[in-house]
Amino acid sequence: MTRKDFLEQVGGGAAGLFFVACAASCKKKSSSSSAAQGPSNVNFTVDVSSGPLSANGGYLVQAGVIIGRNMSGGFVAIAAACTHQGSTLQYSGAANKFSCPSHGAQFDTSGNVVQGPATVAEKKYNTSLSGTNLTVTGG
Ligand code: FES
Repeated sequence: MTRKDFLEQVGGGAAGLFFVACAASCKKKSSSSSAAQGPSNVNFTVDVSSGPLSANGGYLVQAGVIIGRNMSGGFVAIAAACTHQGSTLQYSGAANKFSCPSHGAQFDTSGNVVQGPATVAEKKYNTSLSGTNLTVTGG
């Protein structure tokens, strides 16, 4: 074996190992960092006949979830803690989206990031209205 052959074999082997290690580590990072964040097994009921959810455009934070009432009277709910640094989100009925007062991140009603600096989505929760009782579940 010549010196050149030896270096080619060692170099190729090291590059191959590096590629495998990097591919495994990169795959792990992307799958864990892209998972939506928020409380799990949410299940609570709110009376919407009074308080901030009694009017279109209002919102309420409870049990780590922010519930917004859109301008059509429908309800949307996502995790309340901003995935950037944890500030509590606000809801705009006019824009029908959630925003963070700290650094300006914005999330749509499905919890997807529509403006950074946040890069991770919020969990979305199910809402079900029965009379004036709004039940929030999921996560
Ligand atoms: S904490 Fe929400 S954008 Fe920074």
